[in-house]
Amino acid sequence: KQGLQVAIDGPASAGKSTVAKIVAQRFHYIYCDTGAMYRAITWKALQAGADLDDEATIKQLLDQITIRFEPGTPTQKVFVDETEVTLAIRQPDVTNSVSQVSALPAIRAELTARQRQIADAGGIVMDGRDIGSTVLPHAEVKIFMVASVEERAQRRLKDNAAKGITTPLATLKHEIEERDRKDSTRKVSPLTQAADAVRLDTTSLSIEQVADRIAEIIKEKE
Ligand code: C5P
Repeated sequence: KQGLQVAIDGPASAGKSTVAKIVAQRFHYIYCDTGAMYRAITWKALQAGADLDDEATIKQLLDQITIRFEPGTPTQKVFVDETEVTLAIRQPDVTNSVSQVSALPAIRAELTARQRQIADAGGIVMDGRDIGSTVLPHAEVKIFMVASVEERAQRRLKDNAAKGITTPLATLKHEIEERDRKDSTRKVSPLTQAADAVRLDTTSLSIEQVADRIAEIIKEKE
């Protein structure tokens, strides 16, 4: 096996993907954004005009599509079949519907299987909500990243500005809390800290500081 499995979980906008990308680069690991996979099927369901509670229909849609990542700067590109959805899956319509789709057990089962395949060879940093608890329970490194809602909303505001999305701070705060509530209370693999995960509160840490801390943990286990 080439390299470790590194699982990074936590609530919305805690900085998981930013840090995961940096860590993956440092160790020449693959980076897999599982949130993007849930967003991609949500995008597809919205495109198809599907009822977001209609598990059978959405599962059929998922079975018909490939979700693919391609390298790109500043973020990797995401494709649903041949359509690039990198920006589309970050729009508010997808963001505010994704928790409903990700609560469907058949969707979780299928994406979990795809994620395990991607992570199988090791040398991977995977971020999401249930990576350490469900997808990769034997990951050598498990991180649970948290930050205050205020701080996360501020970070999201900055990210959004770069994408031309202008949702006000108070709305972002509300949306983040709503998404965390749905993700934490769903029946199948809710957002939760694995017993053996290291908890990192990033509220007053820089991106570099968080990446350095995770790098130390990886080096200890390598
Ligand atoms: O990480 P991101 O905010 O892009 O994730 C979008 C949504 O996808 C989450 O709010 C959650 O509903 C779902 N998700 C999940 N399990 C994962 C990753 C994401 O349920 N492993």
